[in-house]
Amino acid sequence: MKTYNIAALAGDGIGPEVMREAIKVLRATEKRFQFKLNITDAPVGWAGIDFAKKALPDVTLDICKKSDSILFGSVGLPDRDPTIPKEERPERAALLRLRKEFGLFANLRPVKLPKILSHACPLAKERQGDGIDILVVRELTGGMYFGQPKKTEDLGGGNFRAIDTMVYTTPEIERIAHVAFKAAQLRRKKLTSIDKANVLENGILWREVVTRVGKNYPDVALDHMFVDNGAMQLMLKPTQFDVMLCENMFGDILSDEAAALGGSLGMLPSASLGATNGNQTFGFYEPAGGTAPDIAGKDLANPIAQILSAALMLRHSFGLNDAAAAIESAVQHAIESGHRTGDIYSAHEAGAKRIGTRAMGDAIAAVV
Ligand code: IPM
Ligand code: MG
Repeated sequence: MKTYNIAALAGDGIGPEVMREAIKVLRATEKRFQFKLNITDAPVGWAGIDFAKKALPDVTLDICKKSDSILFGSVGLPDRDPTIPKEERPERAALLRLRKEFGLFANLRPVKLPKILSHACPLAKERQGDGIDILVVRELTGGMYFGQPKKTEDLGGGNFRAIDTMVYTTPEIERIAHVAFKAAQLRRKKLTSIDKANVLENGILWREVVTRVGKNYPDVALDHMFVDNGAMQLMLKPTQFDVMLCENMFGDILSDEAAALGGSLGMLPSASLGATNGNQTFGFYEPAGGTAPDIAGKDLANPIAQILSAALMLRHSFGLNDAAAAIESAVQHAIESGHRTGDIYSAHEAGAKRIGTRAMGDAIAAVV
């Protein structure tokens, strides 16, 4: 039986409880589809700091390196120990470090508003059309997050100068553009590339390179949009979008905005992919939402983003498309049969049943 090695890094806040449900669902697919998942837990984030005084302990990195993919929860607790230097905080020392370490340049964030959850979407019904279905493809290892110089200079007299640098090279733009065009080919064949070409050098290069790469994909309709307009269009007419291609920071911002349209950040999974090796792609899978410390440990969190992230892992890293689809349709089924965590619950919805994290995981696993 084929075995896949997975590092499970639950992290902080709601991470452990949603991870538990995702693993429950994975175990159900394992039974049904006859493969073996070798899942190893490892501490990360504040859990890593508590364990080994490092947000990404060496043992954790080691386990990741020996694995075929990483299933990640979430890290970062803003209110814990503000004295820790910023370079050692979980966001930078664990999350950004892992992205860079494993060359995870392609971040896929699929936003889907199921019709039945239209009440959870902040937009008026008539703007939702036949349902919102957008894939945000975000470049993840370049741009302002990593560009050098990156520093704060002391100007004296209590004044400082903070510098972040936006840098992109042609090859970096090319490889993410290919990912986006290929994704569009499997969807509605429309790609909107986001940039700020009216102001930024980066935007001009981005637009040129994406246009050139697009020549290889004549079946995909390409258009370009300035990021500010893109943010507005998401609110005005989200149904015009199929795939949105963004550099790192624009993608960070627009994917949260798009996530809100999908009903809840608690529903948005993500895949961060590196290079493909044979028929396996090393990938990092995480819910797009954060640690949500205010609801952590209370059985309130929506585990669906984590569960759908596990489905993306089966598909993109292991090619287990049937098992991935089974999870996605089980989620759909659970929603259609009225299961609702608090974030997607409305007292006005007939047949909706408010349940907790664990019960949502149970319902989805049972369908699988
Ligand atoms: C995300 C998050 C991260 C990012 C933070 C936690 C560093 O917002 O994955 O979207 O900015 O990339
Ligand atoms: Mg973000």
